[in-house]
Amino acid sequence: MNNMLVTGGCGFIGANFVRYLLEESDFTGRIVNVDKLTYAGNPENLADIETDYKDRYIFIKADICDGKKMAQIFEQYGIDSVCHFAAESHVDRSIVKPDAFIQTNIIGTFNLLESARIHQSRMRLFHHISTDEVYGSLGMEGYFTETTPYKPNSPYSASKASSDHLVRAYYKTYGLPITISNCSNNYGPYQFPEKLIPLIILNAFEGKPLPVYGDGRNVRDWLYVKDHCIAIWTIMKIGTPGETYNVGGNSELENINVVEMICDILDEKNTLSDGRSRRDLITFVKDRPGHDLRYAIDFSKLNKNLNWSPKESFETGIRDTIQWYMDNRKWVERVRSGEYKKWIETHYG
Ligand code: NAD
Ligand code: TYD
Repeated sequence: MNNMLVTGGCGFIGANFVRYLLEESDFTGRIVNVDKLTYAGNPENLADIETDYKDRYIFIKADICDGKKMAQIFEQYGIDSVCHFAAESHVDRSIVKPDAFIQTNIIGTFNLLESARIHQSRMRLFHHISTDEVYGSLGMEGYFTETTPYKPNSPYSASKASSDHLVRAYYKTYGLPITISNCSNNYGPYQFPEKLIPLIILNAFEGKPLPVYGDGRNVRDWLYVKDHCIAIWTIMKIGTPGETYNVGGNSELENINVVEMICDILDEKNTLSDGRSRRDLITFVKDRPGHDLRYAIDFSKLNKNLNWSPKESFETGIRDTIQWYMDNRKWVERVRSGEYKKWIETHYG
């Protein structure tokens, strides 16, 4: 893999992955990062990488829905491998306005597959990043495995399920070398503060209400983003083409427990000015429509076949994440105020 196309590399997981590949892994090639820079994409996440890895990192502001542009990029940069993150990723937004989810997640993925098919002779691997949400919701028992039938419940998960099927079909029909990973909820540095963990950290830090949907008993399996990046690179290097791998964090928790843990850790660090415990800020709000009760991942295939398991426990990962958001107030302020969009205008037009 000499010329890897990473899509959505300015988003949360993509930025962590680019950073991991260049700074910590044994990858020796060049990365071409294609990102449309939606509200969730922030090239400042990789500003130092752009300077430090000038000869191995190229950023291109482009939309994966633009098929011609994608074909041109594959041609111009001799793309021989793809790690596809770009997506609309927030369930609540997909409920309010699904349009962009259909375009980016389905049509965008199709465009990339077509470009890869045209250059199939040099294509080493097309790795597609997906979610455990394609499997639907679990009751209080059981785990998702790679053979669990797809049963997506939100426009987001339905669009991701659709893209997974397309990727698999290109393997079966055209023999395009693909792998797919379906992971659980990620958390860690650079996550846009609309998702549960960064939203709660920032609100709790600032003494604002902490919105918990429904009764807070929904369960998610939390995966530290760096563990996820290691899993992706492991699959890309030694995974079997045509296969799907589930990636989980071994950290199943009810939402209310996650929120309470964040409150307690922040209380340890500093108390609110009025002396209240941050748990008093918890506010139960109207539930999300079609809210999946529980996700839980069986990652034994990835563990047995590729010897991967998560290194971070939730207790340590959440402490590091809280510290990161406290140490990076400037990043938080620029992202929240939309200030980074001005930077994009100046740098990329
Ligand atoms: P994110 O929303 O933080 O980032 C998405 C990135 O894609 C942004 O940089 C955005 O600008 C870019 N993008 C969006 N539309 C684009 C388009 N049309 N063309 C080019 N770029 C575009 O998302 P994330 O949390 O980093 O998720 C990355 C991938 O992982 C997604 O495919 C998502 O479905 C999957 N995933 C995420 C989680 C999670 O917990 N965050 C869990 C499972 C799977
Ligand atoms: P989220 O981070 O949006 O990820 P996903 O919907 O992909 O699992 O939400 C994680 C869980 O937290 C989910 O059960 C919904 C819940 N949630 C809240 O209770 N309050 C919030 O403000 C948000 C954003 C999510």
